[in-house]
Parts: sequence; C-alpha cells; structure tokens
Amino acid sequence: MALNMDAIGKPIGPMTRDYTWKDAVLYALGVGAGFSELDYCYEKNLKVIPSFAIAMIFDFFFQAATASGINLAGILHGEQDLIFHNPIPTEGTLITTGRIVDHYDKGVEKGALIVAQSDTVLADRKKLFTSTITIFGRLDGGFGGKDRKKRPVEFPDREPDFMVAASPSPDQPLLYRLSGDIFHLHVDPEFARMSGFDMPIMHGLCTHGFACRALIASLVPGRPELVRRLACRFSKTLYPGVPIKTLIWKTAAGKAVWRTVNAENGQTVIDNGEFEYGEVPKDEIRFDNRVAIVTGAGAGLGRVYAMELARRGARVVVNDLGGTRDGVGDGSSSPADRVVEEIRAAGGEAVANYANVSTADGGTNIVQAALDAFGSVDILINNAGILRDKSFTKMAPEAWHAVLDVHLKGAYNVTRPAFAVMREKGYGRIVMTTSAAGLYGNFGQANYAAAKMGLVGLMNTLKLEGEKYGIKVNTVAPIAASRLTEDVMPPELVARSKPEFVSPLVLYLCADRCPVSGNTYNAGMGVFNRAAVVTGPGMVLAEADQIPTPESVMANLKAISDLAGGKVYPDLNAQVGDALMAFQKPAAKAPADQSQGFSSVSAVFDAMPGTFVADAASDVNVVFQYIIAGAGEWHCAIQDGTCTITSGVHDNPTCILKIADTDFLKMMNGQLPPMQAYTSGKLKIEGDIMKSQLIEKLFKLN
Ligand code: NAI
Repeated sequence: MALNMDAIGKPIGPMTRDYTWKDAVLYALGVGAGFSELDYCYEKNLKVIPSFAIAMIFDFFFQAATASGINLAGILHGEQDLIFHNPIPTEGTLITTGRIVDHYDKGVEKGALIVAQSDTVLADRKKLFTSTITIFGRLDGGFGGKDRKKRPVEFPDREPDFMVAASPSPDQPLLYRLSGDIFHLHVDPEFARMSGFDMPIMHGLCTHGFACRALIASLVPGRPELVRRLACRFSKTLYPGVPIKTLIWKTAAGKAVWRTVNAENGQTVIDNGEFEYGEVPKDEIRFDNRVAIVTGAGAGLGRVYAMELARRGARVVVNDLGGTRDGVGDGSSSPADRVVEEIRAAGGEAVANYANVSTADGGTNIVQAALDAFGSVDILINNAGILRDKSFTKMAPEAWHAVLDVHLKGAYNVTRPAFAVMREKGYGRIVMTTSAAGLYGNFGQANYAAAKMGLVGLMNTLKLEGEKYGIKVNTVAPIAASRLTEDVMPPELVARSKPEFVSPLVLYLCADRCPVSGNTYNAGMGVFNRAAVVTGPGMVLAEADQIPTPESVMANLKAISDLAGGKVYPDLNAQVGDALMAFQKPAAKAPADQSQGFSSVSAVFDAMPGTFVADAASDVNVVFQYIIAGAGEWHCAIQDGTCTITSGVHDNPTCILKIADTDFLKMMNGQLPPMQAYTSGKLKIEGDIMKSQLIEKLFKLN
C-alpha cells in the first residue's frame, strides 16, 4: 500500500481521554517505580512521571500510522520528542489534536519515516505537552520522497556525569501494557517467535519511562514538574529482565544528553537522548515545535530575531546571502553559518540557507530548506534588505530595481511558498519589514520607500487571505543600529538602538497568542507604537449624479483634508461602504406620532412587498439576507422584477445585513439614518456591499 501523501497536514483528533490517579500510579509501577519513589505510587502527594504523557496519547500513534497509509506490519516507534508546557495533573481530561508533519524516504532498503506532531491540553485548554512521534516504516521506503537530514545529538567526549542502573523485572511488560500498549509482541511468546524474537520484548516506551525516572533522580530529584523536554531515538530491542544503565551528560544550564544501554552487552537501546529541565517562567512566550524562517538573518536585526526565536524553542532557518550593503557582489555563506553556530552553541536548533530572496527559485529554496530540515514552516520574518540611496533624478533603473527586488519581490518570493504550507496546516505568523522611510518618506530613498510601502500593501491583502487559515500577518518598522544605518545614525543613538530593542515586538507578532493581524508597528530604542493609514470623514461635495468641480474641491480642501474623527479601515469594502453610505439621503423626519411607524420587525417584512418598486428592479437579481438580533432572519429575493420575502436563512445571499431589532426598527421608522447605523457599527454588511446600496432604490419604506 502506498503512503497517503494527502494525509500530510490534515488534522487528527481531537481525541479525548479521561484519567485518574490510578492511571498515573499504574504507569509508574509499569516503568519500575516502587517504595523508593513513593511520590509516584501513592495517591497522597502524588506526582506524575512526565513520560506518562506518551502512554496517555497512545491512540494518536495508531491514528497517525493508519492515516499515513504506512504498512502496519513493518512499523516501529523510531523517535519520540516530548515538550512539557505545564506539569501533568494527577487526574483530568486530556484533549489531543495533531497532524502528520511529513513523510520521508530513507530508500527501499531502509524504509520510510512518518513524523506526526500533537498538542495535548486539559479540558480548560491549559496546554500540557507537545509530542513529536517519528514512526519508522520498514516496508515503505523507496516511494520517491525526500530524505530527512537531522542534526545528530552530540555527546561530550568524557565519562557521563551520572549513571543510573536499573533492573526491569522479567514480568515488566505485563504490568506496563496495562497503561495502553497491549500489542501482542510484548506479551505473547508465540507471536514474539513468529516476529523473530526469542520471547516477548520490552516496550521501548517502558524503557523510556525507566530513563525518565533516572534523569529526574539525577538532575531534578523529587521534582518531575521541572522536566521541560524529553527526546530520544529507540535503537535496539531489549528483553525483559535484562539490566539497563542510563548514562547522562550535563551539557549546559538546564540541558543534558543521555542514552540507555543494555548492561549485559553494552548495546545502546535508546540513543540521541535530550533532556531539558528548569522552572517555566510564568507567561513565557515560547516557540517550541515551531519552525521559523528569518531572511537576511546573518547580521543586524535578522540575526537577533533568529537567535531569540531559537532561544525560546523555535527551530530556525537562518537565511542570508551574505552580500554587501548595496547587494553588489556574489555573497558569502559565512554570515548565515556564523549565526547558526551561535544558535547551536546556545543549545538551539538552526540550519543555514544562502538563497537569494530576490528570485522565485530563491524563495522556494528557502521554504524547502525549512521543510527538509524541520518538516514545516510556522513563522516567516521577511527581513532581508539592501540600500541604494540616490536622489530621484540620479536614481538609475538598476538601483530602483535592485532595491525593489530584494525588499518587495523578495517578500513575495518567500512568502508565497510559505503561505501555501501555512494554509495547509491552518497556522502561520508572517512579519513584513517596512521602514519609516516608506511610511513617512525620506529624501534620497525613493526606491526603498516605494518597496517598503509596497510591503504594507502586501500585508493588507494577506491578512485577509490568511484569516480563515489562522495566518496572521503584521509589519514592523524598526529603528536599529546596523550596517544599513551606521553612517546615518548619530553615535549617541547607536548604543540605545541595539536590534535587541526591536526584537520583543517582532517575537510577539510571531507568537501563538498574538491576537492582531494587519497592523504596522514602529519599534526601536524600546519605543513601540502603531502606525496606520487613517481616513478622515471628509465630505460629499455634490449629489451623486452631479460632478463636482475643481473649484468646489479648492473651496472645501480644509474639510476634505481634516483627519479629525478619522478611521482605520479593516479592508476595502469597509471604506467603499462608508463612501457609498455618504450618499444616503438624510433620514426622513421621525413620524410625529410614534404609532405611525412599525412596531415590530415582522411588520416591516410584512410591509416590504408592498413598498417594492418593480420599475427599479429590471435586470436586478439579488438576495438580501437580514439577520435581526432579537427578532430572527428574513431574506428578500429579487428576480425578474418580483420581490419575495421569506423568513429564515438563504443558502447564497448576495449580501447580509446584521442589526439589532431595536436599531432596525429605528432605521425603518426614520429615526436612525442608515449611514449612521453603518458607520457607528450598529448595522454590519457582509458580502457584496455595493449591492446593498440598491435597497434604497428598490423599496420605499419610509
Ligand atoms: P543588515 O544589513 O544588517 O541586514 C540585512 C541582511 O540581509 C544582511 O545580512 C544581508 O546579507 C541580507 N540580505 C541582503 N540581500 C539579501 C538577499 N537578496 N537574500 C538574502 N539575504 C539578503 O540590515 P538591518 O538593519 O538589520 O536591516 C534588516 C531589515 O530592517 C531590512 O529590511 C531593512 O530595510 C529594515 N530596516 C532597518 C532599519 C534600521 O534602522 N536598521 C530601519 C528600517 C528598516
């Protein structure tokens, strides 16, 4: 059976699992805990061993394997990575959702890898842990997919700092399997023999639980709640009753590498172990399991974004062409390499990429680098930049194009393939980099200002196109000392303008919990503020069918230019809607006697057919859907000069008008001008807003 490539990125779950303290204790006993670690085994002051997480989401393993189309006869649990966001409580309801990240091809002889990732939260949405499972499919290699290149875990060339010996009982799998993995291979001697083993074998995850206990006892004794990450590769099978040793090397503050070996023959049964521990700062913004691309990250601002994202858990593609400030010359791999080295030295994960953002191939190459190294793209910071300043008449086409190619075309080239990945997975954060030169203008930077303002336009549309896929797109206008600004910035400003003062905002715009999309922020020297295109209320200079004169514009320029009471529009429709509403006739005077008006919403719709102006409806084919909060829904279909009012919701309305019942009655009784209802937000119009303008012509209600 071929692997199902369509399964990549499709949601798996949510899967719900209730558990009690007894499940946590049963697991602890299954992985060798006893009286010497009573905290794991006694409901009084019970603490949960963090590796219990994987036993609780065991179904996810099989759902991912089944969805991937892998040949189930050849599957092995290859690797396991658990990141803990909060301690696991002693009882609760777990909700797990995930997806297959990618399929990799190791070749016909070696098999295929299926990588699946999941997040598990409590019923109150508190995030507990993220799991990345690598399933090894021995029988599925050679399907023509890409291989995975993974950075090997580096073990120090010295004796381990800790060595914890343990002796799993010969009956250990019988107890461990009660936590969920009841596969015959671990219990049925005949099945085990048919599978080529002398007897049932230990569950790899049972040995994993022994290792987790050993790591806690060595590095955070008695405090399992401090475990933040536990990752490893399962490398050899082990028979029950064979003693093991877990070897642990501390590598940095809060970090260790480990492996578990068969104490009888010295073979490594679990390899490439990584362990991270320490307090989780409250409300810390983390990027664990997120994959970020930062363009132009070999220096300046991009370097700091990449370092900081990696420090907070992201796996980062450090893209940089390594060019000169004006983009002339061939470039060099060394700036990107240096940043990758810095990230790795600090314990982070990163790969270098040297592609040129200004070509479509370069953009594809950058995104592919993220997919190859880390399997996905969650975050993209379009940051690469060059300068070629000249006053406008001296600005030759080469200087114009070179700057637009890197900044504006560059963002298009990288964002397009990244956006496709994000759309597929239903999540994304994109940051564009503009400049005060574009937002406000700067002498000698026509090319740069045009490109930088173009990026704001790109954001304005992508925020709309990304909305339903969970993609948020924002823009930063930084001020920072870098080689781009070294000769224009006064020396006293340089010290106060470290890129580190910009990165907090950019990181927040990349975070899961960033709520905004389509915003532009200035950031530098620790000062942050929002910049936006503001539209003033202006004025109507003439009736809609009369063309105003330039003289009337001259006479009214002050009022036309006035920004007092201005608005920031979320999209074109909202602005056009306001412009159209400005032509609405002023409301008819409210009836002197209230009883002359409509007293109920249904009365308005009952009266509507009688107010229909058939002459105005030739060639009109529209459906207006009214959603009147507090009263119900009606739709009004106009076709072939007739009008039909029906209660309920239409399948395919031309536009939808949403308003509260009291406001609707006021509007219909002439006490609330439609324009005012719209501009104050009382009336919301969705869909083809232009067609809503026909209502006034088609009905003579008041
Ligand atoms: P920088 O020159 O230190 O860093 C830019 C990086 O982009 C360089 O390492 C360069 O090699 C790389 N790069 C250039 N062309 C590339 C290409 N075609 N493909 C891949 N990489 C390429 O500059 P800085 O100051 O860190 O600027 C970062 C971004 O911030 C730029 O977009 C810049 O326009 C913008 N910006 C910076 C301001 C500041 O005050 N530093 C002010 C306003 C905007």
